[in-house]
Amino acid sequence: MPVFHTHMLLVASVAVTAVAAPLAAQQSTQVQAAVDAAYSKYKGLKEGKNADYIPALAKVDPDVFGIAVVTPDGKVYTAGDLKTQVSIQSISKVFTMALVMNQQGPDKILNTIGADATGMRFNSIVSIEQSQKMLGGPEMNALVNPGAIAATSMVQGGKYDVVWGSILKFYSDFAGRDLTVLEDVFKSEAETNQRNQAIGALMLAYGYIKDNWQQAVDIYTRQCAVGVNAKDLAMMAATLANAGVNPVTKKQVMKAQDVPEVLAVMATAGLYDDSGKWLFRTGLPAKSGVGGGIIAVSPGKFGIAVISPPLDDAGNSVRAQKAIADISNALGGNPYAAKPALSTAAK
Ligand code: DON
Repeated sequence: MPVFHTHMLLVASVAVTAVAAPLAAQQSTQVQAAVDAAYSKYKGLKEGKNADYIPALAKVDPDVFGIAVVTPDGKVYTAGDLKTQVSIQSISKVFTMALVMNQQGPDKILNTIGADATGMRFNSIVSIEQSQKMLGGPEMNALVNPGAIAATSMVQGGKYDVVWGSILKFYSDFAGRDLTVLEDVFKSEAETNQRNQAIGALMLAYGYIKDNWQQAVDIYTRQCAVGVNAKDLAMMAATLANAGVNPVTKKQVMKAQDVPEVLAVMATAGLYDDSGKWLFRTGLPAKSGVGGGIIAVSPGKFGIAVISPPLDDAGNSVRAQKAIADISNALGGNPYAAKPALSTAAK
């Protein structure tokens, strides 16, 4: 057995420090260079198509392309369009799930909705049947429509305005500014969301929703219509990357202890049917929305968001996936990619 000298301890601690160094310690220019490179590489890419099952989304300019990275020290790196707001859509599901966890603990989500991939489309009704009848319990997650509508129904407050007020305040605290609803998107989706109404009613029938499924579906529709730009989304992601503390306002928005469970569900189901492929390529917990946004979180290092409305067949923004993967890989963002400690590295 070798004697463990003090200098060995020193080497070991230096190695650990090097591995855990926050991104802020890297050159700011390196981060900005990665953002700029992805922006110019994908600026002209025309693949994908706007969502059109919500009529207002088909009208959004497909050329909108904005990138933002926010680090835990509050530095913001951007490229492209940061002004245009798109509807947050399914990215909202992360934050409503986080609100329920913050109010009632992560196990409430696990025991009521589940934390497993459904392997089906985000608005699948078959997934409800499968979760209930064949698997005998909550075998879905809060990032597909049935689970998300159930999560919205679980937000405390009872009355519509109280529940909605706490959802909007929670999202705004993550973003660090007062967010508002894009009323045209809300109206357009409210007029065409019969499928989500069917999901809400079925979730009530099977006991996932306790009462008033209509209110849950309406508030869910409203939360999906919240307007965000790329910087807002990156700030929300960075708050998750920073243990629930907004890096700019310094507000502890959610309990630090519940953030790992939020990220776990994002890693499992954040990009729907393509979550596995995404995790394979990047290792990052992430969430997409049919408005064209994607957020991703490198814990302790950065939050990143890209907005670009054209989607692939799975419903995920084409350019956002590519740009986030490039930037994160350039910055060593994959949390699974540990470096060996110097003292144990192969000679
Ligand atoms: O409920 C819906 O269909 C939309 N409000 C949200 C769907 C969504 O963003 C799925 N994302 N990839």
